[in-house]
Amino acid sequence: MRGVFDKLGLDPAAETPGRLVVRYIGESLVFAMEMALSSGPPEAAQLVAGECIVSAETKDHLNWELIAAAAEKATGDIAKALKEAVEQVEEEEDEHLHHSTGWTRELWIESLGMPAVLLPPEEVKDVKTAIGAARAKNARDDMT
Ligand SMILES: [Fe+2]
Repeated sequence: MRGVFDKLGLDPAAETPGRLVVRYIGESLVFAMEMALSSGPPEAAQLVAGECIVSAETKDHLNWELIAAAAEKATGDIAKALKEAVEQVEEEEDEHLHHSTGWTRELWIESLGMPAVLLPPEEVKDVKTAIGAARAKNARDDMT
């Protein structure tokens, strides 16, 4: 996004009301992880961390989907800058979401005393798409 800001002449340090809310949410996720780490067993803190990461990555993924949608409607330099940025991170952002979700699901399953698949199927199958994530999740019963 810094590259997009540079290309479009936007100020990356500009504070906006929305940015303050996003910062508050991010700091809250960090606070929740620190709280879990200082008040419970490491296994519980790991679950909290997984949930916080899945929350952040879910929003991250949605943001990039919105940027891709905006790029489709934009024209000229804006469209070019947004499309280049999306192309650069698309696969990586899919991976972040699907892999963190897989890890958190399997750690929760393990904590509930059920057979978990660790490494999660999303890792083993090197998932990079939503369809791949669905297939990996469906295959997990054969991997326990
Ligand atoms: Fe991400």
